[in-house]
Amino acid sequence: MADDATPYLLDGLERLEYRGYDSAGIAVRTSTGGTETIRSVSRVGDLRTLVAARSGDPFTGVGIGHTRWATHGAVRESNAHPHADCSGRISVVHNGIIENADLLRDQLSAQGHVFVSEVDSEVITHLVERALAVDPDLMLAVQIATAQLEGSWAIVVLDARDGRMVVAADRSPLVVARAARGDFVASDIGAIATWAETFVALRDGDVVELGESWTWSSRGEVVPVPFATPSPFAAEALELGDHTDHMAKEIEEQPAVVAEILDRIAGRAVDGSMWRSLGLLPFERVAVIACGTSLNAGQVIATALRGLGGVPTDTVVASEADQAVLTPGTLVVAISQSGETADVLRALDRFADRYQVLALTNNLHSSLARRADAVLDCHAGPEIGVAATKTFTAQVVVGVSAMISALVSSGRIDRSRALALVGDMQRLPGLLAGAAEASLDRIPLLVSSVRDASGFLFLGRGAGLPFAAEGALKLKELSYRWAEAYPAGELKHGPLALVTDGTPVVVVDNGEHKIQANVAEVRARGGFVITIGGVGADVPALGRDAGRVLSRRTDGTDQGMSLWGPLESVVPLQMLARELALQLGCDVDKPRNLAKSVTVE
Ligand code: G6P
Repeated sequence: MADDATPYLLDGLERLEYRGYDSAGIAVRTSTGGTETIRSVSRVGDLRTLVAARSGDPFTGVGIGHTRWATHGAVRESNAHPHADCSGRISVVHNGIIENADLLRDQLSAQGHVFVSEVDSEVITHLVERALAVDPDLMLAVQIATAQLEGSWAIVVLDARDGRMVVAADRSPLVVARAARGDFVASDIGAIATWAETFVALRDGDVVELGESWTWSSRGEVVPVPFATPSPFAAEALELGDHTDHMAKEIEEQPAVVAEILDRIAGRAVDGSMWRSLGLLPFERVAVIACGTSLNAGQVIATALRGLGGVPTDTVVASEADQAVLTPGTLVVAISQSGETADVLRALDRFADRYQVLALTNNLHSSLARRADAVLDCHAGPEIGVAATKTFTAQVVVGVSAMISALVSSGRIDRSRALALVGDMQRLPGLLAGAAEASLDRIPLLVSSVRDASGFLFLGRGAGLPFAAEGALKLKELSYRWAEAYPAGELKHGPLALVTDGTPVVVVDNGEHKIQANVAEVRARGGFVITIGGVGADVPALGRDAGRVLSRRTDGTDQGMSLWGPLESVVPLQMLARELALQLGCDVDKPRNLAKSVTVE
């Protein structure tokens, strides 16, 4: 690249910041042949300020950068990437975890290598340095170094002497792209999509030297893949418009996102063609594998699937997939908005050979999409807020539609049933919008009553339970307050001990008759009940409606509960978590300690 690399690095890092924002840093080759490293225990915006304020030798077009989500070592500058070897010749950025780092560190230290950080990644710089002492070829040195690593890595190694750059990956995503302005490398194509038109994803074990022509360790010709158009990474996605934060924008977008999804797929769900186009074999059972919010979306899809055609469906916490026992004829549905969550990808290592895998993701270029036998785009558009909102809703709508389509296609349900179900789904944009509208004034008032509470309980029954779980997860992520979700009936078996005067208990009321008794148990102990939903249920909230946010059937056409439960209740739940976080002064788009996609196990 002929230009100064820093604007590209800083722009790219800003787009990657959702991967982690504990600290950020760059190392750029200067015109006099050294490498200058600038790091900040802060956001990329602060790094930008540091870069602007420097006055050293001019930068060249060769540089590397990183945003960190701390695994090994506290959040401090010495632990921020890039890391360097003893001489400062080799700079490295690394995503992943080096599992044998302690052992390697001991060996290298005994040989005189001096470590200056607590980070596992630093061993890579010293391994490359050690290999270079034997043979000056950087490509070979990186191959020798990575052969000694255990764990997962996506690394870029920069040699200050000649500006050579070698990249390598194993069980961590990394893509390379050749563009008019030069070569780009990133752990997410979203970081470089504005500059490149095609890209190549590294396979596990690949080592590549960039330069005039790329040298691959393991394969001959590589065929670059074009980015999907229109690019889901378009710059306007980053614009806030009239909103104060991305989360507010993304909550508000949900009715439109669902309407657009239904425009695309409703007809194809009803006639079975949505399923047939995936090219998968019929299935007997389903195992949904996911983490976090995607797991909650998976629970909703599982509830719908069980109700739909009685298809046995398990939901598997991806990081606990070792415990799962699947049987022949199982379809694995892997859900991940980012498609890069390491726990989900590792779970597939266990199942992908023996079972069909259907991916449901918001990133068609992700590792998950590449690994799966078939891919469903959840069509949510870019989601910038770290806490998932519209991707949850989109995953539910696309996932349930796909399952309706599968069951029509296999004759388990008939077309008229499918038509009725999809007809019910068509009401969702209105219901979601109504829920937002009804919550707008209520939520801030409710939050001001519970702002000082140290913990929250979320209750639901049956189809309402996954929404209670999602409400509790959102509240924890955003406000840093304890929040636990329980099946309402379980309350009396332990958690009731937590309820005292004023304890906030959020109830997702999907009309289950028995939930009224559970709410009464809370109120008898002085709990502050906030009911979400509940037309048709006579939940005694404070002064009947005072603590109630109506989220359901605001058009007055209540026809009973949908198969997928009270999806619209997620809107007030998201708004509740956001409002509490705002009233407590938290950053709703970038909650502490979290990352939007966690690429380590
Ligand atoms: C991280 C995020 C969660 C998210 C989960 C799954 O832990 O902090 O908000 O739900 O990953 O992400 P995925 O990209 O797989 O849906």
